[in-house]
Amino acid sequence: MKKIGIIGAMELEVEALKAKMDIRRTEQKASMEFLEGTLNQTEVVIVRSGIGKVNAALCTQILCDLFGVSHIINTGVAGSLKNEIDIGDIVVSTDALHHDVDVRVFGYPLGEVPQVGRLAFPADEHLGKLAASCCKEVNPDITVYQGRIVSGDQFISDKKVKDEIVDNFQGFCVEMEGASIAHAAYLNHVPFVVIRAISDKADDSAEMEYPAFEKAAAAHSAALVEHMLPLI
Ligand code: ADE
Repeated sequence: MKKIGIIGAMELEVEALKAKMDIRRTEQKASMEFLEGTLNQTEVVIVRSGIGKVNAALCTQILCDLFGVSHIINTGVAGSLKNEIDIGDIVVSTDALHHDVDVRVFGYPLGEVPQVGRLAFPADEHLGKLAASCCKEVNPDITVYQGRIVSGDQFISDKKVKDEIVDNFQGFCVEMEGASIAHAAYLNHVPFVVIRAISDKADDSAEMEYPAFEKAAAAHSAALVEHMLPLI
């Protein structure tokens, strides 16, 4: 049976979806509240994971083990890593990787977790295409990009750090959970996609931009998730 796990790191990334769903039951686990029910005629489990890669990985594993989800969608906001990707635009993942992993001393490429066997975790193609095509319908004024999403346990707000991440990984946007959700979904053989709306440019202006734009950006991403659900 199709059952979609929807993860947002922060309440504002999932509050609109929670408000619209018909909740059948709620369950607490690892200090997270999992809401199970239907949204837009689709079986869903919606949860706020908390910020960062450990919270997001734990949350993904719980969705797989306790709720048996068939697909995972991560919705939220991110910092842009490309000049042409503007605040409010949406990035849909083609793949995701950890920009803050470094075991080069033992021969692994920068970003690769030893013994996992790959640098980047590929997103599900069907979910990616669906998200991109729905975005054009739901948000015709917003440009949607499909590309690599990179994650680390840092808020990027320094042009030098941003430029290094861009040079090393060719990402489209940066955030703090997507790669660990991708990593956990990959290990559990569950198809996933990360959908992020841009809240800032991940440079010296990010500290000012983020609080001003996070709410609108989170709403763009959530609206897209809601509309794509029945088509999965
Ligand atoms: N989420 C939104 N903007 C971000 C940034 N600049 N760095 C990390 N995560 C983010």
